[in-house]
Amino acid sequence: MFSKLFGRKKKDEDPYSHLPVPETPSWAVLGADMHSHFLPGIDDGAKDLNDSLNLLRSMAGLGYKKIITTPHVFIDYHPNTRQTILAAWEKANAAIKEEGIDIELRPAAEYYIDDYFMHLMEKEELLTIKGKEVLVEFSMVYEPPILAQALFNLRTAGYKPIIAHPERYMFFHRDLSKYEELKDRGCMLQLNMLSIAGYYGGNVKHVAEKLLAKGMYDYCGTDAHHEKHMAVLTAMATSRDYHKIAQYPFRNSQL
Ligand SMILES: [Fe+2]
Repeated sequence: MFSKLFGRKKKDEDPYSHLPVPETPSWAVLGADMHSHFLPGIDDGAKDLNDSLNLLRSMAGLGYKKIITTPHVFIDYHPNTRQTILAAWEKANAAIKEEGIDIELRPAAEYYIDDYFMHLMEKEELLTIKGKEVLVEFSMVYEPPILAQALFNLRTAGYKPIIAHPERYMFFHRDLSKYEELKDRGCMLQLNMLSIAGYYGGNVKHVAEKLLAKGMYDYCGTDAHHEKHMAVLTAMATSRDYHKIAQYPFRNSQL
């Protein structure tokens, strides 16, 4: 079913095969990252301030100039609020200045779509990536029954949803038109760079490449949580996968 709908690419089909693979790892071409978990101790990303600083040093080393970091707001597992996020950001931001790490750090969030979020968006101003653009995620296991309503409510409230890592929602894999539906509903799509590296498996990689080829993504993000993710991002920057990201017109440079 899967391969019938999407068709498998031939192994040698690489539109950038004429371009040399970079020798030095750098994602400076993107300039900014807009999905990560670098604030200390408030979700499943950086464990403490030291961990945050090490991850941010690695990002600066990869040529990133601006990081819009996005802790989970997920009432069941990571019950963050504006206050917990802004307090952790102030701590991390003061430390990067003290340590002289050459990177701009801004706070936002990755909101999990559930009943709590439906209330939250009515109750308070959401933390955004840029203007009224809000990063959202939802269950990887099943399509939430409230998804359409949540996206509609966000749009009605003047927000523009950015769907985090759409290629990771397995229940969409069977029907590519689901992604078109999201775009038709006014959503933007954000690629996880690690998906292209095959970090989440072959099917996720395949769908990500398909969506890239169709020009459906708007942003790309690292979704980095820890050093293992940084190692994959670094390796990717000197692999053939580099050009798949670097040649695509992501909006990251406008952040
Ligand atoms: Fe994330």
